[in-house]
Amino acid sequence: MISLKLERELEKCLDFMYGYMLLKAYFFVLRTGVIQSEYPNHSYAEEWKKCSVDKNVLEHALKLLSLNADVSCLDLCDTLDRASYFALIHPNHPNITLGFIKDADLWNIWLAESPFRISREAIAEIADIGSDKLKVVDFGCGSVSPVYYGSVIGSKGLYTGVDSSHSMVSIARHRVKTERLDWVNIKKGNVESKIIPARKYDVVICSSILQYVDSIQAVMRNAGELLDYDGTVIVFSEVFRDLEPDKESLMSLYYRLIPGFRRFPAVSEILECLDATGANYRYRTAGRNLLVVEFGGR
Ligand SMILES: C[S@@+](CC[C@H](N)C(=O)[O-])C[C@H]1O[C@@H](n2cnc3c(N)ncnc32)[C@H](O)[C@@H]1O
Repeated sequence: MISLKLERELEKCLDFMYGYMLLKAYFFVLRTGVIQSEYPNHSYAEEWKKCSVDKNVLEHALKLLSLNADVSCLDLCDTLDRASYFALIHPNHPNITLGFIKDADLWNIWLAESPFRISREAIAEIADIGSDKLKVVDFGCGSVSPVYYGSVIGSKGLYTGVDSSHSMVSIARHRVKTERLDWVNIKKGNVESKIIPARKYDVVICSSILQYVDSIQAVMRNAGELLDYDGTVIVFSEVFRDLEPDKESLMSLYYRLIPGFRRFPAVSEILECLDATGANYRYRTAGRNLLVVEFGGR
């Protein structure tokens, strides 16, 4: 179970983040005149033209900004905002510093902050990660989660992190070695590629990863196989597009500056992928940003 306090803290942090990006978007439109002007990166400018960011958003933004939220996401938000100006010039402008390979050192800082920090605590609570001998796989583990979950799991359990960025993997391995967490393994790999399970796991974590994959179906199939269709999958997303369609349109304008971003997942889409596995499962949402799936056999 997740405490209501943590669930609310996560929502508040993501609402604050959205409020801040609304404000940034308002000034971006004002400063660049993107709605009336032409820019070299035509397709990015066109996306902004479709988005209605006018004076009316200010009141909503200020309301969200007055929430008593964890504000440590501001550095990531400012980098997204800064990148949006350079993206009008070229989609791969060198001043866009958001890549999981090129800018892993920056992601290593951001991943230690909210909303990722709070989502980790929430996931650990939901999956009761500190319980005895738990075996956990973390899809798109990044550089911070392996030490966090590894420490909570303890030496009787097992944690395997999988990440496609060699830079993130190398930071994660270094941190794990420093902390001497021998029960933590980090593998470089793509979570969409077919995984042949070497052992059965109890929990699969998909935290802020589904927006970067082409096939959620492939990821859910891998999760099911690793659990032998008996265990828990926990999905965290900054936005589920069917739960918060308004948030999705603006946040996608910023997140698409992160190399590899596809689109925010929808809960309904994930459930369709789970149906396609033919397995029995139950699901529940914990607030607006967490989906918990319990497989119960095939
Ligand atoms: C926003 S970070 C989230 C990291 C971690 N899950 C957390 O919550 O702190 C997304 C991570 O997913 C990884 N990633 C993206 N696409 C991937 C894929 N197809 N297979 C494996 N990892 C992937 C990136 O390299 C990055 O480390």
